[in-house]
Amino acid sequence: MKNKKMAPIGVFDSGVGGLTVAREISRQLPYENIVYFGDTARVPYGSKSQNTIIRFSEQIIRFLRTKQVKAIVIACNTASALAVKDEFDLPIIGVVIPGARAAVEATTNGKVGVVGTEATVQSGMYTKVIQGMNPKIEVIEKACPLFVPLVEEGFKEHIVTREIIEYYLESMRNTDIDAMILGCTHYPLFREALERYFEGGVKIIDSAEACAESARAFLDENSIAASLAKTGNVRYYFTDLPSDFNGGLRRFLGSAPSYMEKAQLE
Ligand code: DGL
Repeated sequence: MKNKKMAPIGVFDSGVGGLTVAREISRQLPYENIVYFGDTARVPYGSKSQNTIIRFSEQIIRFLRTKQVKAIVIACNTASALAVKDEFDLPIIGVVIPGARAAVEATTNGKVGVVGTEATVQSGMYTKVIQGMNPKIEVIEKACPLFVPLVEEGFKEHIVTREIIEYYLESMRNTDIDAMILGCTHYPLFREALERYFEGGVKIIDSAEACAESARAFLDENSIAASLAKTGNVRYYFTDLPSDFNGGLRRFLGSAPSYMEKAQLE
């Protein structure tokens, strides 16, 4: 059991967006070591078919197993919505269930909005999970595919971003939702812009935060949380390291990563 406590947590995403989840895990579980995997060679997943997303996710899970992780967090909402199956012999925590639970707890009028990639919204998984918890809740989902490149370009406060938010979310603002899930790794970087857009009338739920809370509860319940009070490290693996990569990484990490390696999938 001691070994398991000291084993790292595997966190994976289609690219760098999942760093929002890894960062939140490090904040809530500072003693845990993390192996982060970003499939930068094949990002985005949000516009791909379910079969492809499942195949990519399974390859990554096999890779993370070689790093002796004690649990895997699927930081990518798209992979979490489309590819989570119970067929692996190690615990897998996705972002969808914790985010859905947080929304069910947050709504008072029973109307919840969800924003995510095309594939996540097409899957209807957030609606299924929310209504599995409370069938009376009405869920309005909206794909916002341009949010991902805007975040990656660093357009947090740009006029274009405000226009695109209006374009995607005007119809959602005309409903009376009182909670909205940021169902994509990148969207927490638009949190303030979205709060402004909804004029504070909608509780914004960051699925990254909810997922990290879930990971913490899982480790505690299973007595496998890191036992040494020593700040954990994060090792980063990416399937591609493009030349302007560090700028993009900094947007999500705030600093350059300590250890980074190009990963080879079988
Ligand atoms: N990581 C993806 C998600 O959270 C967004 C980027 C992509 O489309 O791959 O859904």
